[in-house]
Amino acid sequence: MSRQPPVLIFAPMRGVTTVHYRTAFAKHFQGLDIEMAPFISTVSAGRINAKLLKDVLPESNSGLPLIPQVMSNNADDFIQMNIALHELGYNEVNWNLGCPHKQIRRKQRGSGLLPHPQMVDGILGKVCAESPCRISVKVRLGVESSEELTAMIPVLNRYPLSEVVIHPRTAVQMYEGTVDLGAFETACSQLDHPVCYNGDIFDLAFFQTLEKRFPETGRFMLGRGLLSNPFLCEIIKSGNPQVENAIARIKAFHDDVVARYESVMHGDQPVLGKMKEFWTYQMAYLSNGQKLFKKVKKAHRVSTYKDIVGEFLADAEWKPTPTP
Ligand SMILES: Cc1cc2nc3c(=O)[nH]c(=O)nc-3n(C[C@H](O)[C@H](O)[C@H](O)COP(=O)(O)O)c2cc1C
Repeated sequence: MSRQPPVLIFAPMRGVTTVHYRTAFAKHFQGLDIEMAPFISTVSAGRINAKLLKDVLPESNSGLPLIPQVMSNNADDFIQMNIALHELGYNEVNWNLGCPHKQIRRKQRGSGLLPHPQMVDGILGKVCAESPCRISVKVRLGVESSEELTAMIPVLNRYPLSEVVIHPRTAVQMYEGTVDLGAFETACSQLDHPVCYNGDIFDLAFFQTLEKRFPETGRFMLGRGLLSNPFLCEIIKSGNPQVENAIARIKAFHDDVVARYESVMHGDQPVLGKMKEFWTYQMAYLSNGQKLFKKVKKAHRVSTYKDIVGEFLADAEWKPTPTP
């Protein structure tokens, strides 16, 4: 019997995988099954400002199944946000228990909740009982050590979570060092929920290593690897690392992203800010990508920026491996 194709999920990346980026991405590239939106922080006000939900409005999204994500450490605020998201048509909300940034951790949000299983227990107890949406969680191994996730697992197992997404690094690691596949394996063996793997999927070879080692894990989330190589989900699904018409497709995607940002942002600087971030990832597989990035960083006008990129892409090549 042939194996089920993997379910590939776009990682939430705040400021980067915006609705505009995600919608353009899904138009130009195949292979993704689901998107997770970057986190929305809960608010304690009685009414939720419509602006907060702009990124997940179904009418402006790509049409792929979308899971909104919430950042919260307060059950009532969390439930209020879930009700608003349910009214938009969502049936699942992901809880961010992984954000590693110090200023978030200090407020006992994101990964800052991982050392506090009792707090998570209290919040999940209320939210799972009163929320109209199913809850999934996205975690790291802990703030300092994987023992924190080990202590959290009995709490997570008490609730009917739809999924646990694990990025097997600690928060103090940020994105440094290697992912701890041993800790991921241990967590999988202890969790009663479906698990999704997330972290450092940059190429087909690593994906295949993961698939072989974790045959029960049918769900994989891709972030930076997919931003650098937007063909990666197509490659994973087909098993063929060759990419046809890479530069023409990157150009069409790029032009679409710029146009979308220009249509919603006022002035050159905000658009350029977004596009500079775009190239921090996108330059990796392009011949002379670093050189382009330096030039792009100096652009002050969108018109100049477009000329620089157009000229560069006219004779750029897509490389089979990224520049280290
Ligand atoms: C700029 C940036 C923004 C991110 N924003 C979020 C976010 O809003 N929610 C979240 O759960 N993770 C966020 N992450 C973490 C990613 O979703 C993902 O877990 C991480 O990049 C590891 O996966 P990767 O190795 O495939 O990139 C962010 C990461 C980066 C680099």
